[in-house]
Amino acid sequence: MNKEIRNWEEKEGIRFLKRIGIKPGQKVLDFGARIGHYSIPAAVVVGNRGKVYALDKNKDPLNELKRKAAEQKLENIVLVRTNGSLETGLENNSVDAALAYDVLHLINNRKKLYREIHRVLQKNGLFSVYPKHNKLDQPEQGLKKVGPKEIIKEIEAHNFYFEEERCGLISHDDFLNKGCVLNFRKKRELIEGKK
Ligand SMILES: C[S@@+](CC[C@H](N)C(=O)[O-])C[C@H]1O[C@@H](n2cnc3c(N)ncnc32)[C@H](O)[C@@H]1O
Repeated sequence: MNKEIRNWEEKEGIRFLKRIGIKPGQKVLDFGARIGHYSIPAAVVVGNRGKVYALDKNKDPLNELKRKAAEQKLENIVLVRTNGSLETGLENNSVDAALAYDVLHLINNRKKLYREIHRVLQKNGLFSVYPKHNKLDQPEQGLKKVGPKEIIKEIEAHNFYFEEERCGLISHDDFLNKGCVLNFRKKRELIEGKK
């Protein structure tokens, strides 16, 4: 891992995650965690009373994340290996925040992912999305024709409200770039029988 990105994980990444609203003691799901450029600083922010679920469908990056966590004596990262089905295996309303950073373009059924994130998040929980590779930023795959405005609309249509955009020098792959994340909050559950 290059020095720049290691530094980011240890310093600026921690500051960035605090700025987007991650707090000590929280439970955080990092969906599509890869080697943990966000899971590692998130684990530092949430501390011993908190937990980071680092979820990925690939084994090798999770093994690398495990090695990094052990090196830094971080004991609050739970690795979650899936088969790519978008089911997290987490309980309803069990996490305070969910990150989907640089992963939306790889998901064929984004609606299913939004429903799953909504299910596992607590009321008013934070859903933070880094929609890298959208049509305004190195377009690729599933986001090729979709811009941030459309992404906000499609997530809001799944019972979230858009809170804010936060920009900074953030990690992308194994480098840093200027990027913006979109923060959403889970709307309250619909009360059964009422519209
Ligand atoms: C480009 S990387 C982003 C990693 C990390 N979020 C970051 O920003 O540094 C995308 C990761 O998402 C994972 N991924 C893609 N589709 C997935 C799916 N359906 N379920 C779980 N993980 C997935 C990939 O294996 C990869 O590790």
